[in-house]
Amino acid sequence: MAIIRTKLCDLLEIEYPIIQGGMAWVSTAELAAAVSEAGGLGIIGTGHATPDWVREQVRLARSLTGKPFGVNVMLRSPYAEEILRVVVEERVPVVTTGAGNPGKYLGELKATGVKVIPVVASVALARRLARSGVDALVAEGMESGGHVGEIGTFPLVPQVVDAVDIPVIAAGGIFDGRGLAAALMLGAQGVQMGTRFMCAAECTIHPRVKEMIIKAGDRDTVVTGRSTGHPVRVLRNKLSQQFEELERRGAPPEELEKLGVGRLRAAMVDGDVEYGSVMAGQVAAMVKKVQPAREIVLEVVQEAARLLASASRWVVSRE
Ligand SMILES: Cc1cc2nc3c(=O)[nH]c(=O)nc-3n(C[C@H](O)[C@H](O)[C@H](O)COP(=O)(O)O)c2cc1C
Repeated sequence: MAIIRTKLCDLLEIEYPIIQGGMAWVSTAELAAAVSEAGGLGIIGTGHATPDWVREQVRLARSLTGKPFGVNVMLRSPYAEEILRVVVEERVPVVTTGAGNPGKYLGELKATGVKVIPVVASVALARRLARSGVDALVAEGMESGGHVGEIGTFPLVPQVVDAVDIPVIAAGGIFDGRGLAAALMLGAQGVQMGTRFMCAAECTIHPRVKEMIIKAGDRDTVVTGRSTGHPVRVLRNKLSQQFEELERRGAPPEELEKLGVGRLRAAMVDGDVEYGSVMAGQVAAMVKKVQPAREIVLEVVQEAARLLASASRWVVSRE
């Protein structure tokens, strides 16, 4: 069986260069452990969760897999610092960070051997973080689900690759082996996928959300909240319509922020797919079924290996 291996696999001590993106209220220990067991890197999403919850999740994941997994920390969380302490105490090998610059925590994390991988959506931040000594970067394009930047994956990834000399992981809009093969051609050492793993069998989100993703078409996601400075990509529903209406009327950012409070949990845990925030990326339209995480990981690496092995047929010599 042909598979794909890159330097990222050595860095993270994983079999395949596939990371399951940390997703608040979505990627719990069960999903993260399943992806790690399959040979990728599973990541527990923590969002605004408490440090105690995170510790329980880490211990649960450890009881489900002996392989490496990571924790994602949203730096805007009031508990960010305490969660990073849990990461160090529980000897979690990898941390990915969202929403900002983990610079002030880097010294302690690196001293205790934790690999630090921030998510970036711009070249400037990528350059700054690479200089500060992080181990790798996730370059996330605006096709992704959840919080988004302004640049698409195709233009962002090669620019970040050219700007830094550490491994770059492509994210945003990657669904299958075609996406992994393309990401490698753009210079990435691996991929991070979020939306596809929402429909993994081991993902604990409400079945109504999985159903909504499976039914989604190519134009069913929308970015709301640009006027707040924190835009998010979600599946269209009554909540996204309210958001769009308020933004059209020029509502102040505080009013919009208030509308969003607790809405991600309402969707993912309680299954409120009308008034909950159903964060998902543009590849939602490509998800057709619920599958075990192992099947997803193997399908992606085997398809990419097949495509890349046969790609030389396009290369012809001309005198
Ligand atoms: C429901 C959902 C929640 C997310 N939550 C987080 C998060 O808490 N922290 C983070 O860094 N990224 C978060 N992301 C982004 C993912 O980790 C990942 O980078 C992204 O989904 C990749 O793009 P894709 O959805 O096109 O595969 C989230 C994405 C989704 C779909």
